Amino acid sequence: MPLTSKPLSMETWPEFARLVDKHNGIFGGCWCISFHLTGGEEQRGASAYRAMKQKLVREGRAHAALVFDGPDAIGWCQFGPTGELPNIRSRKSYEEGLGYLPDWRITCFFIDRERRGGGIATVALREALREIGRLGGGTVEAYPEDYTGQRTSNSFLCSGTLSMFEKAGFKRDRKIAMRRWVVNRIVPRSRAKRAANRS
Ligand SMILES: CC(C)(COP(=O)(O)OP(=O)(O)OC[C@H]1O[C@@H](n2cnc3c(N)ncnc32)[C@H](O)[C@@H]1OP(=O)(O)O)[C@@H](O)C(=O)NCCC(=O)NCCS
Repeated sequence: MPLTSKPLSMETWPEFARLVDKHNGIFGGCWCISFHLTGGEEQRGASAYRAMKQKLVREGRAHAALVFDGPDAIGWCQFGPTGELPNIRSRKSYEEGLGYLPDWRITCFFIDRERRGGGIATVALREALREIGRLGGGTVEAYPEDYTGQRTSNSFLCSGTLSMFEKAGFKRDRKIAMRRWVVNRIVPRSRAKRAANRS
C-alpha cells in the first residue's frame, strides 16, 4: 500500500497519539511539545504535555505532516509559523546572527522505530513543504545536524540531517552549534491555495 500523508488535526489526533503512546510519550513524555514552549513551561511531565499538545492541535496552533501506512501514522515532520515554535535549540547563538525571522520553521521529525532507515523522514519533509505551500508559502527555516558521511544516534537527529534539507532545496545560512546549521528556502504558495482564494 502506498504511503499517504495528512496534516495533524483533531481528526488525525488519535493516530498521532497512538504513535506517541507506542514510544512511551517520546523521550519519556515530550509529546512533541518542546519547541512550542515559552519560559516557565518546562518540567511539567507527560500528562500535562499531552493535554497541552491536544489543546494546541484543537486551536489550530500545532502543525505537522503525518505520514500514514494504511490506517497507521508512522511518522511526522513538525512545522509551524515562527511564533508557534519559539523554543529552538542553540537559541542564543541563533539570535546573535539573526537578520530576519522566517515565516515558517521546521523543527522536528519522529519516525516509528520499526520503520527507520527507509526514507520516511524524507517523505515527511516533502509533505510538510507541500502543506506549507497550501497554507500560503513563504520563507522556511530549519535547523538540521551535519553528520555527512557518518552514522550517529537516531535521537540526535530529531531536527533532521543537513543533507536531507539540501536535497529538498534548502541553502546553508549559518552554523549555530558544532554540527547544527540554519538552512532556508522559499516555498511558493501552492496553486490549490491560489485557486481557493480566487473562488
Ligand atoms: C532521525 C530520523 C527522523 C530519521 O528518519 P528516517 O525515516 O530513518 O530517515 P530517512 O531514511 O528519510 O533518511 C534521511 C537522511 O537521514 C540520514 N540518517 C538517518 N538516520 C541517520 C543516522 N542515525 N545517522 C546519520 N544519518 C542518518 C539518512 O542517511 C538520510 O540521509 P540522505 O538524505 O543523505 O540519504 C529517525 O531516526 C527518528 O525518528 N529518530 C528519532 C528522532 C526523535 O527522537 N525525535 C523526537 C522528537 S524531538
